[in-house]
Amino acid sequence: MREVMDLEVFATAEEAGARVADLAAQQVENFPRSVLGLATGSTPIPIYEGIVRHVRAGRITLAQVTTFNLDEYVGLGPDDPHSFAFYMRQHLFGPLALNPAQTFMPPNQGPDLKTRAPSYDRLIEGRGGIDWQLLGIGRNGHIGFNEPGTPFDSETHIAALSDSTRRANAPWFDNDWDRVPRQAVTMGLATIMRSRAIVLAAFGEDKADALAQAFRGPLTPEVPASVLRSHPSVVVIADRAAARLLAPSRGAYPV
Ligand code: GLP
Repeated sequence: MREVMDLEVFATAEEAGARVADLAAQQVENFPRSVLGLATGSTPIPIYEGIVRHVRAGRITLAQVTTFNLDEYVGLGPDDPHSFAFYMRQHLFGPLALNPAQTFMPPNQGPDLKTRAPSYDRLIEGRGGIDWQLLGIGRNGHIGFNEPGTPFDSETHIAALSDSTRRANAPWFDNDWDRVPRQAVTMGLATIMRSRAIVLAAFGEDKADALAQAFRGPLTPEVPASVLRSHPSVVVIADRAAARLLAPSRGAYPV
């Protein structure tokens, strides 16, 4: 197990986001047919802006990539503005006019969802597996919607969202956490760990504890992101506020 992961710290979320966009662009430049694992939330917004800039500047094209999103709320249709499918169209797929046949979201509707959810892992495997997975981190150390206590060997499944996660996502629901769905379908921790390379982005003071617990505390399902320490290729890109409790191991450290 690695005690120290690759960590790069930047002064601002904008700079850190631009760095993650550069890493994504490098991946696609080197492997135009990459399978990308994508995340939602506030953290990826500057990252997707950076990727869109790279495409518009003609540095890369996403025309040949395949994407798999990490998670989706149960029951929300793709045209629901609160769905992650809508978010992805707004921030990345729409601006880049990606073909919907290249972009996959976890199954999130229908009566047999519990049994259909793991089929997402088979779909990913059928496309050769995820080459490059983008992750954010929840304040309680969750990745995707794998809440504390989720087994490390979990595949894509229905997750019950904790009150803290629902409160954290309330800003997307007019600050009314009662409207945040109680369940989501998420890639499991084993699904995420099968990715060949992982980039975890964390911006802001309220991620500092989660990062410290994940990368300094015990390797435990109580802190889902701690599983990443047993992955051979994880880079953490943080702004200074989020990295406050971690010592950088390499990269650029503006002061
Ligand atoms: C949500 C998502 C995660 C995301 C996390 C942090 O619960 N399911 O994938 O990483 O929240 O979100 P944010 O980037 O908005 O802080």
